[in-house]
Amino acid sequence: MNKGLFITFEGADGCGKTTQLKLLKTYLENNGYDVVVTREPGGKGLGEKFREILLNYDGVVSDRCETFLFLADRAQNIDTIVKPAVASGKIVLCDRHIDSSVAYQGYGRGLDIQQIKELNTLATGGKLPDLTLIFDIDIETSMQRVGNEKDRMESSGMEFFNRVRNGYLELAKQEPERIKVVEAKGSIDEIHAKVLDIFKNLCK
Ligand code: TYD
Repeated sequence: MNKGLFITFEGADGCGKTTQLKLLKTYLENNGYDVVVTREPGGKGLGEKFREILLNYDGVVSDRCETFLFLADRAQNIDTIVKPAVASGKIVLCDRHIDSSVAYQGYGRGLDIQQIKELNTLATGGKLPDLTLIFDIDIETSMQRVGNEKDRMESSGMEFFNRVRNGYLELAKQEPERIKVVEAKGSIDEIHAKVLDIFKNLCK
C-alpha cells in the first residue's frame, strides 16, 4: 500500500489502548508497513513541554486553559508529525486525538461540545483520521488499572470518567464510518484480534 493512513486510539484512562497501539504497530511492521507512532499530549519536542504542564502542573489550570493547551499540542502534532508522515505514505498511529478533547473537555468538564469540535478543526486544519478506535470499558475496571498513582487528569473522579465514557459512545453514534467501538474487556489477544479485523476491513 502506498497511500498513507492516519489511525487514532481513544478511550478513558486505563482502557488499554496504548497496549493495543503497540500490538498493531508490531503487526504492521511485520507485514512490511512503514509506521509512525505519536501521541497527544506530547509527540516529540515542544509536545513534551505541553504534556508536562497538562499532566503534572500542580497549581490551578482553568478548564478553558486546559482545552487550549491540548489544542496547541494537537496543532503541533498534526503539522510537524502526522501530516508529513501520511503524505509520504506512512501509517500514523496516534494515541489520543480530537475525540479526547470532545470527550474530556466537552462531556467531562462540561465545555460547549460544538465549540470544541470547531476548535479541533482549527487545530487540525480539518484533517480527520481515516479510522478511530474507541476502547470501551466500564470505569470501575479502568480506574482499578490506573491504580493509586494518578496524574492531574486521572484525579478527576468516577463521575467525570463516566461522562467521558458516555461522550465517546455518543461520538461513535454520530460518526459510525470513522469511529469504531472496541469492547475492551477481554484478553489482550482477543482485543488485538478485533483491532486487526477492523484494520483489514479498512484496507479492503
Ligand atoms: P496519558 O498519560 O497519555 O493517558 P493515557 O495513557 O490514558 O492516554 O494522559 C493523557 C491525559 O490527557 C488523559 O487523562 C486524557 C487527557 N486528554 C484530555 O483531557 N484532552 C485531550 O484533548 C487529550 C489529547 C488528552
